[in-house]
Amino acid sequence: MKIRPATTADLDAVVRNESSSFSTPWSRHTFLSLLARHTVIFRVAEDDEGELIGHGIIWWVFDEAELANLAIAPSARGKGVGGSLLDVLLAEVALHGVLRVFLEVRKSNEAAHRLYRSRGFEAVGERRNYYVNPREDAIVLQLDFDVDLSRAS
Ligand SMILES: CC(C)(COP(=O)(O)OP(=O)(O)OC[C@H]1O[C@@H](n2cnc3c(N)ncnc32)[C@H](O)[C@@H]1OP(=O)(O)O)[C@@H](O)C(=O)NCCC(=O)NCCS
Repeated sequence: MKIRPATTADLDAVVRNESSSFSTPWSRHTFLSLLARHTVIFRVAEDDEGELIGHGIIWWVFDEAELANLAIAPSARGKGVGGSLLDVLLAEVALHGVLRVFLEVRKSNEAAHRLYRSRGFEAVGERRNYYVNPREDAIVLQLDFDVDLSRAS
């Protein structure tokens, strides 16, 4: 398994992976526009045969970041790929002076809650009826970095 920056050549596979992971998937156009932004970290995971098995996106504004997307192919779940991709995204965004990371997650998404909890995220709020298809509340999770790595010598 390898994690690397996404390119335009990955977008067909990213869109397929997105559709098999979310009921309201992002469009190809959205992913394409994110590839061009300098405050966005867009990474993909591929297996040993070069097949895309996951994608993840985090962006930041000043010292706050948002984990915007994380999706692992159904056949590749439960093998540590999501955790590895998340770790890469967090480590890379920390280098930009980010001090805290937020994300929203469906209340019922037990796999995601376990993953985020294992990395130190804590619930700090709720957004009522945030999701559609099906309608559901979001839990807002926050992770504080202990050290500002961008200022480490
Ligand atoms: C949530 C998701 C990204 C996890 O990816 P993954 O590769 O399966 O996760 P990992 O194998 O790295 O497991 C990470 C942790 O999640 C837990 N986990 C994984 N699958 C689980 C499941 N089906 N039920 C409960 N916990 C689960 C594991 O216990 C693991 O914790 P551990 O390391 O303490 O054992 C993946 O299930 C997914 O893409 N889901 C659909 C899209 C989605 O919900 N994205 C998140 C939106 S906020």
